[in-house]
Amino acid sequence: MRIKWTEEKANRAAEIVEQCAIARDALPSLRREFGDEVTLDSVVSMLNRRKLSAPGERVNTHDVEEAERDTLPAPAEVVASKRQVVAAGVFFGDLHAGIQDDRAVECAIRAGEEFLRPFNEEQRFTAQVGDLLDSEDLTSHPRRRNKWATMDEEIEIGRGFLGDVTRRLGAKTNYLIGGNHDSARWEKYVSAHLRTISSIRRLGDALLFESLMGLEELGWSYTRYNKCINIGRCVVSHDFGSGGATAISRCLYGGYRAGSAFGHTHRPGVMYAGMCGETFRVSLNPGWLGRLEAIDYFNERSAREQWAHAIVTSYLDADGMLHAQVVPIVEGECIVNGRVISA
Ligand SMILES: [Fe+2]
Ligand SMILES: [Fe+2]
Repeated sequence: MRIKWTEEKANRAAEIVEQCAIARDALPSLRREFGDEVTLDSVVSMLNRRKLSAPGERVNTHDVEEAERDTLPAPAEVVASKRQVVAAGVFFGDLHAGIQDDRAVECAIRAGEEFLRPFNEEQRFTAQVGDLLDSEDLTSHPRRRNKWATMDEEIEIGRGFLGDVTRRLGAKTNYLIGGNHDSARWEKYVSAHLRTISSIRRLGDALLFESLMGLEELGWSYTRYNKCINIGRCVVSHDFGSGGATAISRCLYGGYRAGSAFGHTHRPGVMYAGMCGETFRVSLNPGWLGRLEAIDYFNERSAREQWAHAIVTSYLDADGMLHAQVVPIVEGECIVNGRVISA
């Protein structure tokens, strides 16, 4: 049964919603007061008809115009806007633990805290899109001149970052995506030694990257390098085979019609294409959080001009689309919700 919003009920409901950061947080109180038939859609729609805002929910002007023309009671079922926010998330880029920029990392986490503040634990998500570790020690390359962390130290720094994100951003869902520098290098290293050292083979599951990092205990789900997950209709992986400055546009027009999110290029950006509905898509990259001085495998001048510290903030709508924005981090500072965040 659908609730009938009398003037008195509507005013009281508006009062309750006003006290909450987002409208859906008011739902338990509204149901206690008016019964279980209260739905978020009916509340948002009722507020829209009265030209009142529903925090965190899109004000559907079409609904308002329709309601003004229609003097009959509203239809039994109100279709919620597809643009209704169902989740909010922060994308973190390549950390390369061991050569991370501590100030940029701290700023990124503070920015994430600020962005997610209006949302509850269930609605929040975070994603680290790979190259959490640098893993130079696992390669056959000579140790880099400027590199200062051992593999043990990298693991500790990487775990520290993941723990900080879960503790401070308080998201129920945290996705760790394997990168070519961490997950792939680890698997290659282990398989090379498995062949020759039987005592290593006996360790079994303990050799998995997720075990090495203790991801379950830290509250992160894990996806191996070159595998994908979906966040809404957006496909997420460390890379899609494209590198360099044009990777974002190539991913946008390269077949992932609903959208793609990836790391690897260290070049932050968000691009959109498509008019609406099925054709609307996004391509995003949250950049990186490392120190340029520690890099010696890429031209320093090019890296300085093209790579950038950043995060990507995003809203997931009821249609599965990500509405994403790049937040650049400049010398340990960024701006979120109009506030300067400093580290
Ligand atoms: Fe990387
Ligand atoms: Fe990478």
